[in-house]
Amino acid sequence: MAHRAITSFPSLSILLTSLLSFHAYLAAAASEQQPLKEQEKTAYKIGQAIPVTCLNRTIDTGEHITDELGQLQYIDFPTCSETGRPLELAFGVDKEINCTLDFISDPFFHLLEFYIHNDAPLTCRIPTRPLTPDSSSSIAIPVDSTNNQVGALGSQSTLYTPLVVALTGTLQLSHVHVANYLNLLLHAAPKSTSPGTIDAASAYSVSSGTRHTKVIIGDALTLHFSVRWYPSPVLPSGWAGVGGHIFLSTLVYCLLSAGAATAVCIAYFRGVALPRRLQRYAKDKVGNGLGGYGYGAGGLPQHGNGTAKNGYAGYGGYGYGVSTGTGKRD
Ligand SMILES: *[C@@H]1O[C@H](CO)[C@@H](O)[C@H](O)[C@H]1NC(C)=O
Ligand SMILES: *[C@@H]1O[C@H](CO)[C@@H](O)[C@H](O)[C@H]1NC(C)=O
Repeated sequence: MAHRAITSFPSLSILLTSLLSFHAYLAAAASEQQPLKEQEKTAYKIGQAIPVTCLNRTIDTGEHITDELGQLQYIDFPTCSETGRPLELAFGVDKEINCTLDFISDPFFHLLEFYIHNDAPLTCRIPTRPLTPDSSSSIAIPVDSTNNQVGALGSQSTLYTPLVVALTGTLQLSHVHVANYLNLLLHAAPKSTSPGTIDAASAYSVSSGTRHTKVIIGDALTLHFSVRWYPSPVLPSGWAGVGGHIFLSTLVYCLLSAGAATAVCIAYFRGVALPRRLQRYAKDKVGNGLGGYGYGAGGLPQHGNGTAKNGYAGYGGYGYGVSTGTGKRD
């Protein structure tokens, strides 16, 4: 359009307008090239704040909202009362973040219903690298040569990394239960290839069976995020760690229960079995004078000879103290 205007020269004002727009066109083209080059140089430092923005959605259908150019509208994550700012992550820092939304407005409540009912995801995104003033003010979503939007979610754009928050809960007639404890996982690109950049991100509610909160319009809602960073696209195997824990605790349990069992056995033997045997032994002595019952190695009952070795040999020393002192029988 600008080209056509320049070649036809219909009037001075049109010429000026077209020159201006042509200049704007060049500037836009340049700024599209420029930030990309600069983006390559920018990298997050450890602890650097990463802003989270999310798709704006209509409250009647949950449809995402596009601007006049057809681009998806991303707006700040709601303000957390803890910080007075929208949710921010810190590059490379594992931490727990509480984000309390002070007042669940009527529109936001309806959006919560959409998220929980899976009519629409809570679709957010974070800058893959720190945004330069250029990149944040100009194209959030790149357009291709035919002016078609590409990478609606930012996924085909290297500028942003999608962060979809899988918020769960249950819907009731008058309120919703929101599973408000969330894990938020972030993968940084390996340092060797592109240090200080984000590779992937995801968030999801955990323990929705037990950890949830009831929300009605006007309530506050605290989201508890457990943020964990991984230095590569690979997740560590968590199960092995859990297995190791079980192994250790099982071992300790076994040792403890073995100790307890031994104690019970000793107590039983000393408190119950031994006195009974001694009683029986005493009875035997008083009665017909038969020896033991053959528990030990000897086996066959014999007439006692005062040492009791026939009957109690198997039980070590317990029998001797009593029997040896009793002298003779028969
Ligand atoms: C989100 O979209 C709605 C409807 O178009 C609009 O009223 C609202 O201002 C938008 N939110 C922000 C933060 O721009
Ligand atoms: C977040 O909130 C929980 C529960 O209210 C609290 O126990 C915890 O200390 C808070 N954590 C931080 C980092 O503020």
